[in-house]
This record gives sequence, C-alpha cells and structure tokens, in this order.
Amino acid sequence: MPMLDLIGRSCLITGGSKGIGLAIATRFASAGANCTLVARNLDPLRDAVSKLPRIKDLKQTHDILSGDVGDLKFWEHAVEAKPDISVLVNAAGQPQVSTLFSTKQGDIERLVGVNLLGAIYGTKAYVKGMMRAREGCIINISSALAATGGRGSAVYAASKSGLDGFAKSMVKEVSRFNIRINNILPGYIETDMTAAMSAAARKEALSKTPLGTFGDVNQVADAAYFLAMNKYITGTNLVIDGGYSVGH
Ligand SMILES: NC(=O)c1ccc[n+]([C@@H]2O[C@H](COP(=O)([O-])OP(=O)(O)OC[C@H]3O[C@@H](n4cnc5c(N)ncnc54)[C@H](OP(=O)(O)O)[C@@H]3O)[C@@H](O)[C@H]2O)c1
Repeated sequence: MPMLDLIGRSCLITGGSKGIGLAIATRFASAGANCTLVARNLDPLRDAVSKLPRIKDLKQTHDILSGDVGDLKFWEHAVEAKPDISVLVNAAGQPQVSTLFSTKQGDIERLVGVNLLGAIYGTKAYVKGMMRAREGCIINISSALAATGGRGSAVYAASKSGLDGFAKSMVKEVSRFNIRINNILPGYIETDMTAAMSAAARKEALSKTPLGTFGDVNQVADAAYFLAMNKYITGTNLVIDGGYSVGH
C-alpha cells in the first residue's frame, strides 16, 4: 500500500484518459489525491475516472473535464469548474511523424497548440490560485526528443523543448510563492502513441535505446509522484528514457 501523502490535494491531469496521464492520475489517487482528468473524448474519460483508486474511508472525489487544452477558453471553464488545484500535470500531447517539408500548416499549429500552448495556458490559468495558496506544483510531460531532436519530429521536438525555457522562466517568476515547475522527458513508453508506430520505426527506436526496451507508464508515474513530493526540486528536466538521449 503506497503512502497516503497526497490526501486532500487536488490534482488536475491533462491527457488523463489514458497512457501516461492516466498512470500518473492512478498513482496520485492511490496516494489519496482527488484527481480531475482532462481530455477531449468523453467516453474514455468516463471509463478512466471510474477505474481510479478510491481509498476506503477517505472521501476522495475524482472528476472529469472534457476540452481541448490548446484552447484558452477551455482553461477559463476549467478554472471556474475546478478553482483549487495544487498539482497540475500537463500530459496531453500529440505526436508527429512527418518531415517538416510534408507537414501542413494546420498540423504545425495543432502540435504547438497542444504540446506547448496547452501547458502554458494551463499554467497561466492555475498559477494565480497557487500564488494565493502559497503552494503549487506543475509537472509538464515533455519528451527525450526535446533534447535529441528526431527525424520526422521537428515540430514535436520544438514544442516539447519550448517547455524547457518555459519552466525555467516560471521558476524565476513563481518560486517565491512556493510554486515548483518541472519537466519529465520520457523516451519511448508503451502507450497508444507508440503502438501506432510502424514496425520499422519501433525497431529503430529500440536499437537507439541502450536498455533495449520501451518504458512502462508506471515508471513515468513514479517520477511524477517523486516530483510532486520532493519540495526542493524545481526547474529540472527529469529524463526517463532507457538511455536514449545519451546518444547513438
Ligand atoms: N508514449 C511515449 O513514448 C511518449 C514519449 C515521450 C513523451 N510522451 C508524451 O507524454 C504525453 C502522454 O503521451 P501518451 O503516450 O500517454 O499518449 P496517449 O496514450 O496517446 O494519450 C494522449 C492523451 O492526451 C489527450 N489529448 C490529446 N490531445 C488533446 C487535446 N488537444 N486536448 C486535451 N487532451 C488531449 C488524449 O485524449 P483525447 O484524444 O481524448 O483528447 C489522451 O488522454 C504526451 O504529451 C506525449 O507527447 C510520450
């Protein structure tokens, strides 16, 4: 049984209906947190929230909000519906598998909108309340590709590496309010996102991962929990990638 050290904490996890976001929400809920899951599609959200751990005798309330994190209006609605959030996890994201030359303008805007602006808008929406509460933790799910780049991932890598400058700047703006902001940089993790890779792309990714396997969502969830709990870590990029970013 995990320690119940997130009792009474309200956490909002974007991309919480599946994959890495859902694993983080599950980890937080099993430590006693109240979790709000965010994604666009309602059915997977309802399914995910019904499966979140609820600790006996603890009045845990889990909830869902559906919307597009790249839309500022969604965040206005989110803050109205869930004003008191002490841990914000920006995990919603979309991949890219196309050279820049063949990527349409709409797709460029969508990728930057979800992967980078989604985290910026979410932080902007919730940081005011965290400042009032004199406490807050923001965790962005970036990517190892932010550090290495990748063929066919120029816009994705640009959107994720933008989170580095964003987090470091926010550290300078909000640390005095006891708000921490960190990025996690996963390598290849088994989720629907990586299940969509071609056999050739998967083989290449494995060959570039020194530990020789894709990671598990729970390994990323453990890291998010660690960052939520450790009160002296801020402005860091925590890499969980089986050695991928060491170089190949
Ligand atoms: N899996 C990996 O190998 C890997 C590696 C490095 C980084 N990451 C990053 O980790 C995060 C989670 O990835 P994952 O593999 O868990 O992906 P996933 O299984 O495809 O889940 C993506 C989640 O994001 C939500 N989402 C996508 N676009 C959204 C939008 N515009 N607004 C709100 N929610 C949106 C999805 O729900 P809806 O579609 O219903 O909106 C879903 O809940 C992403 O930021 C990804 O870039 C993943």
